[in-house]
Amino acid sequence: MKVLITGGAGYIGSHTTVELLEAGHEVVVVDNLCNGSEVALRRVEDITGKTVDFVCADIRDREAMDAVLAHHDIDAVIHFAGLKAVGQSVSQPLTYYENNVNGTLVLCQAMEAAGVRRIVFSSSATVYGSEAPVPYVETTPRGTTSNPYGTSKAMVEKVLEDLVEADERWSVALLRYFNPIGAHPSGKIGEDPQGIPNNLMPFIAQVAVGRRDELTIFGGDYATVDGTCERDYLHVVDLAVGHLKALKAVSERGVSVYNLGTGQGVSVLQMVNSFTRVTDVAVPYRVGARRAGDLPAFWADAAKAEKELGWVAGKSLDDMMADTWRWQSGNPEGYGG
Ligand code: NAD
Ligand code: UD1
Repeated sequence: MKVLITGGAGYIGSHTTVELLEAGHEVVVVDNLCNGSEVALRRVEDITGKTVDFVCADIRDREAMDAVLAHHDIDAVIHFAGLKAVGQSVSQPLTYYENNVNGTLVLCQAMEAAGVRRIVFSSSATVYGSEAPVPYVETTPRGTTSNPYGTSKAMVEKVLEDLVEADERWSVALLRYFNPIGAHPSGKIGEDPQGIPNNLMPFIAQVAVGRRDELTIFGGDYATVDGTCERDYLHVVDLAVGHLKALKAVSERGVSVYNLGTGQGVSVLQMVNSFTRVTDVAVPYRVGARRAGDLPAFWADAAKAEKELGWVAGKSLDDMMADTWRWQSGNPEGYGG
């Protein structure tokens, strides 16, 4: 297949580009580089020995999207492009709705005009809201999201569902990611957050490499295994492979929704201990106050993706730690180093 990957210069997009190229697909990446790097794409070429067709453009630029779709005979789109910082979305809601929701509208309008009607969308477990029973299962309706980032994901899911409702030629896969971490086993590509990381794994990795003094664990008094929050961490390469499998789902019409997670909850303390056990590098930490908006514990029921797509998150927590460390220690300053 020839696949257009929006946001392909970012964390999950670059790993997915590798998997697609290695599986023999042709790939065109569109990214405006607001949070991605061309170096990542050069490293993808290094890993795969193949050339990445890259267009530096914004998905909100209709002319640019029309040109990409006119120039390439695209079979399906995997849509990663968007903004993802939860805290920033609270202070800049318009920016988030403009990028994530309007960006998707423009992309879909361009796809419709070009007759390309297959899309795989990066959604998030956050769409289940705060009241859903754990483990989260796809049949549970979307819940009340607590920040504009999460709301933008729920809104885009609804837009794509409505598109299928209106025109049965569309096919849509909504992939609800749990907590992707890790890096490609080559150590050449990985997560490279700008500024202070919001997410746990890059924070641990930056403490370990000496860029930050200590980790603050947000809350130690939750009703969980050890008082710290539990999440479902999955290896980014497994997640990337999930997209490859989802291309199968969008070759049939309609909407399909899949949780992509391991089905296991792991606590923050277990994460820190596991990182140190695997890498032999200490991570100084202190337990601080809870972070507003955090849920105590959630993980996926990932049975549907296994049954229908033949997908399982097979890599272990040890793999996630070892691969994160190979990337972070080899690239202490990320792509800018
Ligand atoms: P990322 O920021 O590394 O990648 C997103 C890419 O999209 C970046 O390269 C950025 O430059 C590009 N981009 C942003 N807005 C754009 C626009 N208007 N036009 C063109 N390119 C644009 O993020 P990621 O972690 O790889 O996440 C990819 C997708 O998965 C996002 O939609 C994110 O919301 C979603 N997601 C991520 C996680 C996670 O934990 N990383 C969890 C759930 C869902
Ligand atoms: C966060 C977002 C979620 C988004 C996901 C992936 C919030 C409330 N949720 O999920 O919408 O889809 O990222 O981008 O921001 N932790 C610490 N110290 C740190 C950082 C994190 O203790 O410095 C803890 C958190 O309290 C949480 C766990 O580690 O319990 C994981 O945090 P994080 O990586 O930010 O992911 P989520 O909060 O699950």
